[in-house]
Amino acid sequence: MGSYIQNIKGTADILPDDIYKWHFLEKTIHDTMRLFNYNEMRTPLFEKTDLFARGIGELTDIVSKEMYTFLDRGKKSLTLKPEMTAPIMRAYLQHSMQSKTLVTKVFYISPMFRQENPQAGRQRQFHQFGAESIGSEHPETDAEIIILASEVFKKVGLADTKLTINTLGDAVARNKHRDTLKSFLKPHYNELCKTCQDRFETNPLRILDCKNPGCREITADAPVIIEFIDTESKTHYERVKEILKSNGIYYFENPKMVRGLDYYTHTVFEISSTQLGAQDAICGGGRYNLLARELGSKDVPAVGFAAGMERTLLVLEKNDTSIPEPLPLDIFFIALGDSAVSWAQSQIYALRTSAISCDMDYMKRSMKAQMREANRQGARFTVIVGDNELQSGNVILKDMEGSNQISVNLTDFVSSMEQKFHG
Ligand code: HAM
Repeated sequence: MGSYIQNIKGTADILPDDIYKWHFLEKTIHDTMRLFNYNEMRTPLFEKTDLFARGIGELTDIVSKEMYTFLDRGKKSLTLKPEMTAPIMRAYLQHSMQSKTLVTKVFYISPMFRQENPQAGRQRQFHQFGAESIGSEHPETDAEIIILASEVFKKVGLADTKLTINTLGDAVARNKHRDTLKSFLKPHYNELCKTCQDRFETNPLRILDCKNPGCREITADAPVIIEFIDTESKTHYERVKEILKSNGIYYFENPKMVRGLDYYTHTVFEISSTQLGAQDAICGGGRYNLLARELGSKDVPAVGFAAGMERTLLVLEKNDTSIPEPLPLDIFFIALGDSAVSWAQSQIYALRTSAISCDMDYMKRSMKAQMREANRQGARFTVIVGDNELQSGNVILKDMEGSNQISVNLTDFVSSMEQKFHG
């Protein structure tokens, strides 16, 4: 590998040979979002640290352990965004977006940063796509968000996904549940794993979805939030499930699923894949009616989701899902000698103007080597040109797949190609 500078652990280069997979995923996202009437929104890569501390919650893993936080030269604390929901809400409030329309529907595709231990499907710089619907408190919006996420996965060809849902009710229910849960767990405090012991005071809800077998055993009969929610929250949840059912979206209910961010209320959900092992969540989301208040505004109802793009592509790869390959190069010129190179180069510029993709070998190599290059590039056609062709006034256009070849006049080469490729 030599002694070149390497990339930072937990980051990845996306090389030209793989980029078509990203383009395919991004195009599917754009197309689906358009059908659902969500518009793209972009926010800066870094924000004031306070936005995430207040928005996601000081005591969450993301804020307390995983953020890339630094002081800039003016000694301001800034953070590379670990997620997009808080920035979107910040921008929504800042630009008074509610004054333009009652419901704002936006989507995003962006890198995110979390200092976690890297492993397959878990990076320090990763990409999320997601959507947020801000303004409506109705369960129809929760269902639309879940259906939208499912639709993107369906369209990219991801089978084998599992949708899990739960409700966290409102703040009153959460507080009641929190107290009861703590009383239930207290006698077992010493048997909890170290992380859950830390969570006992700060975030006891998260003990419910700890993966440690010992903790699971303790929480098997623990009180769950749904036992504490009021009729209104229950009706909201029932309506979400009803809409999912009537739209053919299958789901599992897990009354212990709480998610790792503090802003959630009512519906929460995750989509996972059996193909992923430990990091099996490809998508997570839910309703977050309390986030706007945390950011200093009045309450604004909202719901959304975000999905990991590396994880989505990993599952597609594991499933051998066919991803459309990029269009091949139309013509590769094999030019021998200075005059032929000049002629080829002028044709190339004219052809590109006519939307015919083409290229040539700039290494002035032998015909055999140039032919190999044309093959390596997967060109559909080659044109061989040397002094003989320039003298005779004709070049050979060779079909690389079928090995057919036709002779084309040099003087009207570009118009012949326009005719051939565009009819
Ligand atoms: P999250 O569950 O933290 O939710 O992240 C969503 C998805 O991002 C995960 O399911 C996973 O696929 C991917 N992801 C998270 N961390 C990593 C990582 N280190 N490496 C690779 N992929 C990762 C949120 O971010 C919320 N903002 C979702 C939301 C939107 N809720 C409401 N609106």
